[in-house]
Amino acid sequence: MLAFSLNERAVELEVDPETPLLWVLRDHLSLLGTRFGCGMGLCGACTVHLDGAAIRSCSTPVSLVAGRSVTTIEGLGGNHPVQRAWVEHNVPQCGYCQSGQIMSAAALLASNPQPDEDSIRQAMSGNLCRCGTYHKVQRAILSVAAVAHWEPVAEDVS
Ligand code: FES
Ligand code: FES
Repeated sequence: MLAFSLNERAVELEVDPETPLLWVLRDHLSLLGTRFGCGMGLCGACTVHLDGAAIRSCSTPVSLVAGRSVTTIEGLGGNHPVQRAWVEHNVPQCGYCQSGQIMSAAALLASNPQPDEDSIRQAMSGNLCRCGTYHKVQRAILSVAAVAHWEPVAEDVS
C-alpha cells in the first residue's frame, strides 16, 4: 500500500511502485489536468509539485512520493495568483502545455517571489510550448512578481 498526500488529502492505493506518478494521477485518481507530452522528462507538460518543488511526473516513479506531499494543477484551486495572472494576460493558446507552465511558475514564485527576467527564463526553460506563448508566460509571471514588490503603506489616521 502506497500512501501520500495529494492536494492536501491523504491518498492510499495499491499500485506497482515503478508506475510513473503521471499515470497514477491520471489513470488511478482521475486527475486529468496533468498532461502527457514527451514521457521522457523533456517537455514539462506533466509538471506537478513534490513537497513544493516542480518535478516531472512522467519520469517520477510513484514510490518516490510515498509519505510526501504532491500538488497538481487541481490543487491550486483556480484562484491562485499565477492562475489569475494567466487569465489576465490571456496566456494559453491551445492550452496543452499550460498546466505544466503554471505549476513551474507557481513553484518558482513560491521559492523566489520577485524573480527577474533571467531567473524566470531559466526556471521556465524546461517547459516547452508548441504555440510559442513564452512571452505571455514571462509577462504573467512578472506581473505576479510586481505585486510581490508592492507593500501596503500604513494609513495615516491622525
Ligand atoms: S511528459 Fe513529462 S516532461 Fe514531457
Ligand atoms: S499553449 Fe499550445 S502548447 Fe502551449
